[in-house]
Amino acid sequence: MKTVNELLPLLRIEFPLIMAPMFLVSNIDMIKAGMDSGIMATFPTLNYRNEGELAEVLNRINGFKAGSKGSYGVNLIVQQSNPLYKKHLKVCVEKKVPFYITSLGSPKEVIEAAHAYGAKVFCDVTNMAHAQKCFDTGCDGFIAVGQGAGGHAGPHPLHILIPALKKQFPGKPVIAAGGIVSGEGLLSVRVLGAEGVSVGTRFIVSKECKVNKEYKDAIIHAGMDDIVMTTKLSGTPCTIIDTPQAKKMGYTQSWIERFLSNNPQTKKWFKMFVQVRGMKKLEESVLPNNYQKLWCAGKSSELIESEFTCKEIIDHLKTEYAKALAEVKLLEM
Ligand SMILES: Cc1cc2nc3c(=O)[nH]c(=O)nc-3n(C[C@H](O)[C@H](O)[C@H](O)COP(=O)(O)O)c2cc1C
Repeated sequence: MKTVNELLPLLRIEFPLIMAPMFLVSNIDMIKAGMDSGIMATFPTLNYRNEGELAEVLNRINGFKAGSKGSYGVNLIVQQSNPLYKKHLKVCVEKKVPFYITSLGSPKEVIEAAHAYGAKVFCDVTNMAHAQKCFDTGCDGFIAVGQGAGGHAGPHPLHILIPALKKQFPGKPVIAAGGIVSGEGLLSVRVLGAEGVSVGTRFIVSKECKVNKEYKDAIIHAGMDDIVMTTKLSGTPCTIIDTPQAKKMGYTQSWIERFLSNNPQTKKWFKMFVQVRGMKKLEESVLPNNYQKLWCAGKSSELIESEFTCKEIIDHLKTEYAKALAEVKLLEM
């Protein structure tokens, strides 16, 4: 196993953990708690869609960054169907965001803009073909998104994806995402070659997270069999809790939806329409006093039993990791 010494100074953090970006979930209190605990705390720029909001949030985060042990980053959906992509990239560059996670499209433009002032760019990858494209455009590392991850989960197990990435791109840092909630989970992917982990679902059930109580309780009560994939919300396979509303909405797009998503003339606009429609549904399910029950969560819900503060979650992970490492060293072959 390699040391994490190279990753920590690269990202200017103390522990190899990323608080994953989560649409409608990540907020500034979670970011501050993550940074204070010495990790990389991230959020999707799409959480701030009103004029001037993103710049204001970045000013506040930059304000407390100097005194913190960790760092922060943003996630940009670099697809043409994200109408705010270019605008948000410009704001992030102006505010000198230190770390970017790109998802879904080509990271080229983000990499060029970020590298111009020394920021780092890691790309969400779920397969080798996309990883190759990100590598060719000069990314600094990969977020390997595996099976069962919250959000746009990949089709491959981390036990195959991580070693495959390490083999094809030796020297590029790999962060494992999907199903990790504990120090033992972190150690297991470190053994496979990953330098760190990105954790999402676990942080939804944190005191700082402002989603409604029903959503948090649903994660606490969900087992791995209650998490299903649907393409109905964004056009890309996404994990959700299998509530009655999820069953009613369905798991796959109809043939007409697939036709409109693939037709060169309608593709861009139809994908945009599907994403805006999905966004509205999720928004109605997440905020307090809402009645919808369409909740995005990964299979790690199985292992989440109670709510803690972000600091407690991170401290548990650090202690468990040290303990698991010591125990593994004692194991006989
Ligand atoms: C509610 C929710 C929203 C998410 N939103 C985004 C997003 O906007 N952008 C993104 O790149 N990933 C998003 N993800 C994926 C996470 O960044 C991360 O890859 C994933 O949560 C890791 O798997 P885990 O949930 O099993 O820890 C989301 C995940 C969840 C659970």
